[in-house]
Amino acid sequence: MDAEFWKQAWFEGRTGFHRSEYHPQLLEFFPLFEAKNEQSILVPLCGKTKDLTWLSHQNLYVQGIELSEKAVREYFSDNSIENYNVEDNTYTHQNLTLEVGDFFHHEKPEGYDYIYDRAAIVALPPSMRVDYSAHCLSLLKPGGKILLITFEYDQSKLDGPPFCVPEKEVNQLYAKEGTIELLNKLSDKPNNPKFKEAGVTTFIQKVYLITKKEA
Ligand SMILES: C[S@@+](CC[C@H](N)C(=O)[O-])C[C@H]1O[C@@H](n2cnc3c(N)ncnc32)[C@H](O)[C@@H]1O
Repeated sequence: MDAEFWKQAWFEGRTGFHRSEYHPQLLEFFPLFEAKNEQSILVPLCGKTKDLTWLSHQNLYVQGIELSEKAVREYFSDNSIENYNVEDNTYTHQNLTLEVGDFFHHEKPEGYDYIYDRAAIVALPPSMRVDYSAHCLSLLKPGGKILLITFEYDQSKLDGPPFCVPEKEVNQLYAKEGTIELLNKLSDKPNNPKFKEAGVTTFIQKVYLITKKEA
């Protein structure tokens, strides 16, 4: 799952992960952040999700990171936003900033208050998830929170993305530096035909709140 894979996916319009509505689990569980005005939230591997818009309406500074410039440009065109600034691969509109680049190279010394991970960790193969989760934690302030949405299904039936990220792995990746609360578990029939064809009958979505320990 290298940069070319994703850039090609955007180029060919293979973006079945994109939702035309705000994510219901974000709307339901965002209040648990108890966010205050002008705090900051990071949306890694953001694509062109509409959730960026919803978050930017919560009086937060919203920072998305996305490899594909096409995705970032489409975010603005899909949402009829014309008055944005572009400088050094960074697109800014009011309190929303979208950086075109590799999340693993993104730095913010003062850290973020929150991270919203929907279809981000599940987009990465197991070999990349250790570095991904460590980087998320390094970008989070002590006491900062992550809203994490994962999928679980029988990975032996087909390969990702999206990948199965089991609860045990979430614990291995985040428990050392954070406390983990399972907020929701939804069993669903997979709607993507490739899952049906592979014989995946159960698809579970899990939602976690991870709070980084105070230093
Ligand atoms: C499955 S999509 C999810 C997009 C978005 N989170 C959503 O919910 O619609 C994963 C996205 O991550 C981007 N991506 C993959 N690896 C990345 C990386 N290392 N840095 C930044 N973006 C990356 C891809 O281009 C793709 O848009």
